[in-house]
Order: sequence, then C-alpha cells, then structure tokens
Amino acid sequence: PAAATSALVTAARASGRGVAAFNVITLEHAEAVVAAAEHTGLPVVLQLSENAALFHAGRVEPLLAGAAALARDTPVPVALHLDHVTSEDLLRAGVAAGVSSVMFDASTLPYEDNVRATARITAWAHSSGVWVEAELGEVGGKDGAHAPGVRTDPAEAAAFTAATGVDSLAVAVGNSHAMTERTARIDLDLIARLRAALDVPLVLHGSSGVPDDDLRRAVTAGMTKINIGTALNIAYTAAVRDRLITDPSVVDPRRYLASAREAMTTTAAHLLRVVAG
Ligand code: G3H
Ligand code: ZN
Repeated sequence: PAAATSALVTAARASGRGVAAFNVITLEHAEAVVAAAEHTGLPVVLQLSENAALFHAGRVEPLLAGAAALARDTPVPVALHLDHVTSEDLLRAGVAAGVSSVMFDASTLPYEDNVRATARITAWAHSSGVWVEAELGEVGGKDGAHAPGVRTDPAEAAAFTAATGVDSLAVAVGNSHAMTERTARIDLDLIARLRAALDVPLVLHGSSGVPDDDLRRAVTAGMTKINIGTALNIAYTAAVRDRLITDPSVVDPRRYLASAREAMTTTAAHLLRVVAG
C-alpha cells in the first residue's frame, strides 16, 4: 500500500537499517522497483526528480499518478517522494498529486540563503503534513562531473537542521551523482560524526557510485535513506542496447522495454537487500 516516507525512514533508522529510494524516469522504472520490493518483501521509496519532471514537459502528475496506482495495489509499503526540487510550483504540484515527502534543494545557494529558503519551504510543507529533506554541502555530479571533494561539516549541519526544522539531511561524504563506475570513496568516519551531531536521519545521494560493501558500511555508520538512480539506468540501457543489437528487426517497444524492466528489477532487488542489511 501507499506509505509515508517518514514512517519508512523512521522504522529503518530505529532498526539500524537503510531504506532504498529509487529515482524513476518512466513507468517501467516504477513497475520494476515495485516488482523488486515485492520479490524482496522490503519497503521502498519511489522518487521523481525535478530533472525527470522536466523530461515530462515539466509535469509530475502523469508519472506520479502511475506510481500512486502501483503503490496502492501492492502488498509492500511504497512511499512517493519528490527529489532535488528547486521550483516551488513543482513542490505544490507534487504535494497535490500525493507525495508524502519532498527534497528541497537549495544546496547551491550560500549558507545563509540556503537556511532562509529551506526554513520557509519547510514551514509550508509541515503545514501540509509533508516531510522535508534538504541538502547541505552540495553533492556534485548533477551535471556529470565527479568527485567535487566537498564535505558536510557536522557542526554546520547541526546548526542548519536546528535553524530550518528539516526532517532529514542529504550530506556530502565523498558521494557524487551519476557515477557509472562504483568507485566512490565514502568517508565513514564523517558519517559517524554527522550521525552523532544530528537528530535527523541522513540521506546518501549518488549511491550508484558506492560499492555494495561500502553501502552496508555507510548504513551501519548512520545513513538511512539511500538514493539510487543511475544504477537503474545502467541496467535499463544495457538491456535495450543488447536487445536491439541481437534483434535488429524488432519494432514493438514492448520487446526491449520488457528486457529493460526485467534488468531494472534485478538491480533494484539486489540493492534493496544490500541497503536493508
Ligand atoms: O537524488 C538522486 C540520487 O542521488 C541518485 O544518484 O543517480 O548517482 O545514483 P545516482
Ligand atoms: Zn541526489
């Protein structure tokens, strides 16, 4: 059934486990993730980013409607989340479409501006019963670059969460977005220090670049919500490429999209288990 991100994250944190949050771009992504959650019996977050919404002509409603139907009709708990949102219009549209949580991303702003914008959005979200994730210490790679070397400072993070009232925090601990090789070097000591300094759950972005063992260690050290996007796209694209090469006469997209969906299901099921410990 549809679940609230806050409930899934709180339960995972209380038991020292992680909860996987997968970025969905197409309906096949969402179907694959829900199938993987069913295979593993594990709860999951389906998240739609502002970038993915832009791909769909700036609209979140069509894909969220599909995701909401999948969440409603499955026996496993599935929460819907908006990821990396900068547009307030998009936040409103997502909340109206039924997401239980949003990530408001003002991480590119100077510290004081990030605090001011995030505090304002958080007050609004809480008045609608929506759980808020924010980011401090910009996790690089959203434009394809790797390893920016930025780190979130624990004392600053504690001040930021107190000043904004956010419910969770995405932190920079050596992670980077859109890595196609799993070569990220995560600072486990920094995760432990952030965990000790903060009351709110921690979110790991760019998790596709982190090897399985380090994902497990990151969860043990204190990470709870584990965001995964690129790993699904690697599986999707490899399956489509393989299918088109082996069957050059294929016309019906269901032939190669079925392969893509199956490949994403396998990847998502594996990562769900890794993150759940
Ligand atoms: O917010 C989304 C995640 O940080 C996904 O990052 O595509 O590098 O796994 P990734
Ligand atoms: Zn991210």
